[in-house]
Amino acid sequence: MNKKRFAAVSLIVVLFLGAAFVVARTAVFKPADGVKGAKIPPGEYDPAVWGRHYPLEYKSYQRNLAMEPSPAGYGGSMKIQHSIRQPEILTNFKGMAFGKDYAEDRGHPYALTDLKETQRITPKSPGACMTCKTVHLIDIYKEMGWSYAKTPLGDLFPRMKHSIVCGNCHDPATMDLRVANPAFIEAMQRRGVDIKRATREEMRSYVCGQCHVEYYFEPETSIVIFPWDKGLHPEQMYAYYGDIPKGFAGDWLHPDSQVQMLKAQHPDFETWIGGTHGKAGISCVDCHMPYVRESGKKYTSHWVTSPMKHIETSCRPCHSQTPEWLMDNVKTTQNNTWQLQHTAGKTVAKAHEVIGKVRLLPNISRSDLDKARELLRKAQWYWDFVAAESSMGFHNPSQVMNVLGQSIDLAHQAIAAANRAGGRTIDRFMADSMQQIE
Ligand code: HEC
Ligand code: HEC
Ligand code: HEC
Ligand code: HEC
Repeated sequence: MNKKRFAAVSLIVVLFLGAAFVVARTAVFKPADGVKGAKIPPGEYDPAVWGRHYPLEYKSYQRNLAMEPSPAGYGGSMKIQHSIRQPEILTNFKGMAFGKDYAEDRGHPYALTDLKETQRITPKSPGACMTCKTVHLIDIYKEMGWSYAKTPLGDLFPRMKHSIVCGNCHDPATMDLRVANPAFIEAMQRRGVDIKRATREEMRSYVCGQCHVEYYFEPETSIVIFPWDKGLHPEQMYAYYGDIPKGFAGDWLHPDSQVQMLKAQHPDFETWIGGTHGKAGISCVDCHMPYVRESGKKYTSHWVTSPMKHIETSCRPCHSQTPEWLMDNVKTTQNNTWQLQHTAGKTVAKAHEVIGKVRLLPNISRSDLDKARELLRKAQWYWDFVAAESSMGFHNPSQVMNVLGQSIDLAHQAIAAANRAGGRTIDRFMADSMQQIE
C-alpha cells in the first residue's frame, strides 16, 4: 500500500471507530432494560413502593439524603446561608424575602421540608411556590388547573406528603421520562417546541429543565411563567421583563434605591444550553446521573449531586484527561467566577447605597437618577443571574464571565449617573466607590 492510500484507509478506520464509539456510548452503556412493566399504579408516589420494583435506583436515590460539601469548594448539599460568604446579599435583597433567608440548596428529598421551613414563605404565600417542590403538583394541577397557583399554600400543604420523587420524572406505567410542570410545557410551546415529540436525549435535560430555570409569578393569577419568549440568554430575558409582561413590573421595590428589582432563580438550564456541553447535546443526566455498576448490573445513578464527587463515572466516559486535571479545571473556572461575582455583588450594593443617599438630596437631576436606577436594575439582574445559577460558572464559563463583566460596568455607570444626579464630580465618586469595594 502506498503512503497516500494507507493514510486514506487509516482515516476511514479512525472515523469508523469514532462513530462506533458514539453509538456504543449510548447503546452499550445503556442499562439492560429488564425492569419495565412493573406497573406502579397512578397516584402512588411513595418512592419506597417504587423502590421495591427498582431497588438499585431507589438505593442510589436515598443517597440524596446525605449532606456533604462539594470537593470543588463551592456547591454542595449543605443548608448554609449564602450571606455568610457574600454579605452584599443583605444589601442587594433588602426589602424582600431572600434578604432574610437564602440558604444553599440540598438534595431532592429535602425540597418539601425546606419549603415548609423557609422563612421566605408563610401559609398565605401563593400555592405556586410548591410547583417545583413536590410530586403532588401532578394531581393538584389535574384537579384544579392553574387555579392552584393563587390558592394559599397553607390550604394545599395537607395534600403534600412527598418531595421530589420518582413520579416527578417517570410515568409510572412505562417508566418513560416525563415532564410534570405545566410551566415548562407552555414555555416550550411558545417557543415552538412540542415536548411530546422530544427525543430521549432531549428528555434527559428537559426533566431537569422543568425546575432548574428562571421563572416569575404572573400578577393576579400567580401562574408560573418562564420568561423565554425572546430567548434564553440573560439579555433576552431582561428585554422580555422590560416589556412589563401582563403587568409584571418586578419582584419587589428596593427600599434604599427605590428601584423595581428582578430576582433571578437558578437559571441552570438556560446557562447550560449555551455552553460547550449544552451545545454538544450533552445532557444534565450525563454528568449528574451517570451510569454506574453494582454486582454486575448497570443502571442510572439516582444520586443527583455534584459530579465532582464521582469524576470517574461523570466525566471520564468522555474525557481522557486525568481526574486531577478535570478537578483543577473546574476549580479554576469556579474561582474565577467567584471572584468576579463577589466584585459585581459588592459594586451593585454600593450602587444601592449611593442612589439611596442621592435621592434624598435637594435639587437633584431626576433624569440622571432615573438613568441610574435603570442601570442598577440591569446590573443586579446580571450579577444575580450568575449568583443564583448553581454551578459557580461551570455550565457556561464564557457566558458567565461576560455577564459578570457587564454587571460590574453597569453598576459603576449607575454610581456615576447617581453622582451626576446629585451634582457630585466623577473624581469624588471614583474615590468613594473604590474605597468601598476594596
Ligand atoms: C429527577 C428525575 C428523576 C427522578 C426523581 C427519578 N428518576 Fe429514574 N431516571 C431518571 C433519568 C433521567 C433516567 C435515565 C433515563 C434514560 O436515559 O432514558 C432514569 C432511569 C430510571 C430507570 C431505568 C433504568 C436505569 O437505571 O437507567 C429506572 C428503573 C428508574 N429510573 C427508577 C426510578 C425510581 C425507582 C425513582 C424513585 C426512587 C426514580 N427513578 C426517580 C430520572 C429520574
Ligand atoms: C420538581 C422539580 C425538580 C426536578 C424535576 C429536578 N430538580 Fe434538582 N432540585 C430541585 C430543588 C427544589 C432543589 C433544592 C432542594 C432543597 O435544597 O431543598 C434541587 C436540587 C438539585 C441539586 C443540588 C443537590 C445538592 O446536593 O446540593 C442538583 C445537583 C440537582 N437538583 C440537579 C437536578 C438534575 C440533574 C435534574 C434532572 C435529572 C433535576 N435536578 C430535576 C428541583 C428539581
Ligand atoms: C458536563 C457536565 C455537566 C452538565 C451537562 C450539567 N452539569 Fe450541572 N454541574 C456540573 C458541575 C461540574 C457542577 C459544579 C459542581 C460543584 O461545584 O461541585 C455542576 C453543578 C450543578 C448544580 C449545583 C450542585 C451543587 O452541589 O450545589 C446543579 C443544581 C446543576 N449542576 C444542575 C444542572 C442541570 C439542571 C443541568 C442541565 C440543564 C446540568 N447541571 C448540566 C456539571 C454538569
Ligand atoms: C457525554 C460526554 C461528556 C461528558 C459526560 C463530559 N464532557 Fe466535558 N466535553 C465534552 C465535549 C464533547 C466537549 C467539547 C470539546 C471536546 O470535543 O473535547 C467537552 C468540553 C469540556 C471542557 C472544555 C470546554 C469548556 O467548557 O471549558 C471541559 C473543561 C470539560 N468538558 C469538563 C468536563 C467535566 C469536568 C465533566 C464532568 C463533570 C465533563 N466535562 C463531562 C463531552 C463530555
